[in-house]
Amino acid sequence: AAAEKGGYATFMEKEIHDQPHAVADTLLGRTDASGRLVLDELRISEEQLEAVDRITIVACGTAAYAGMVAKYAIEHWTRIPVEVALAHEFRYCDPIVSERTLVVSISQSGETMDTLMAVKHARSLGALTISVCNTHGSTIPRESDAVLYTHAGPEIAVASTKAFLAQITACYVLGLYLAQLRGGSFADDAQSVMKELGEVPAKIETLLGRMDRVKEIARFMADTRAVLFLGRHVGYPIALEGALKLKELAYIHAEGFAAGELKHGPIALIEPGQPVFVIVPSPTAEHGLHGKVVSNIQEIRARGARTLVIAEEGDESVVPFADEVISVPATSQLLAPLLTVVPLQVFALWLSTAKGLDVDQPRNLAKSVTVE
Ligand code: G6P
Repeated sequence: AAAEKGGYATFMEKEIHDQPHAVADTLLGRTDASGRLVLDELRISEEQLEAVDRITIVACGTAAYAGMVAKYAIEHWTRIPVEVALAHEFRYCDPIVSERTLVVSISQSGETMDTLMAVKHARSLGALTISVCNTHGSTIPRESDAVLYTHAGPEIAVASTKAFLAQITACYVLGLYLAQLRGGSFADDAQSVMKELGEVPAKIETLLGRMDRVKEIARFMADTRAVLFLGRHVGYPIALEGALKLKELAYIHAEGFAAGELKHGPIALIEPGQPVFVIVPSPTAEHGLHGKVVSNIQEIRARGARTLVIAEEGDESVVPFADEVISVPATSQLLAPLLTVVPLQVFALWLSTAKGLDVDQPRNLAKSVTVE
């Protein structure tokens, strides 16, 4: 079993370290010699894809957070409206679907019953369906019009890590492909984003080499009762995913918030010593949210929060307000989730370990939930 875990103590730790490959392998073979995206495997005609006027992503758990990240990118690149629906809600909310709706399901296992039923419902209403899936021959790809496989390799730990990065990557590939196909203002940039995506695996590797301090922080927090996570833009779903990892693995009450929402309620939770992770966008991000998030750190610090700040390397502006700074390599704003989530995964892994819990098989959870 030790060999299966690649020398690591748990599958989760191994899978976290597999992430550079999960991203690289998911990008493999998706461009031709000239750098253009090719998705030959899609089995939906270009005419049908060109006609799409609305995208709905359906998924559960971590896969739904990958969908939330994808929404920001696909809308930005294609200008097609993207909605993200929890698969178990989708079918019951009288969804607006036509033959010009593309329903993208995201599922590691391809067997999640809630997601499968959402796909079947979408098809019965005439939607085009694409499955983003990690498991060949599983049910959801079989029940969909087309499949875009993630190449994360088998994921054994119940809490998803490398599949999440691969799902985001595959959704980016799909978004860039649609942008290229539709020839809008972004079409020419698709190739340069692909190139930048190609540089992400090495950055994840660099980041993984710097996780000793995160591990140490986690070890000292075994008695923590609640942890909050704040992020904005693509950092928001990453805050939700960071909180989910902590609930799943360490059984700690954890919540993620959009940082802009802080003043509308959650700031009341801040009391001296309350640990808060903050995902800070790059100072150079086009959306210009960096300063606003730094102000949030200042506000919670002033109320006694213990601030654990994930920021781009070289961003000195967070230092005065951070109890800990976790630096991530620079990348463009939409690709940042592939990096910023990594310290949160590592944190949950080591906090769970510090509490003596079963990292790979948390209580009450199943790797794939095949009942509705
Ligand atoms: C279960 C797992 C989660 C996973 C979710 C969706 O609840 O415990 O880790 O995110 O199912 O699984 P899927 O295989 O559809 O991605």
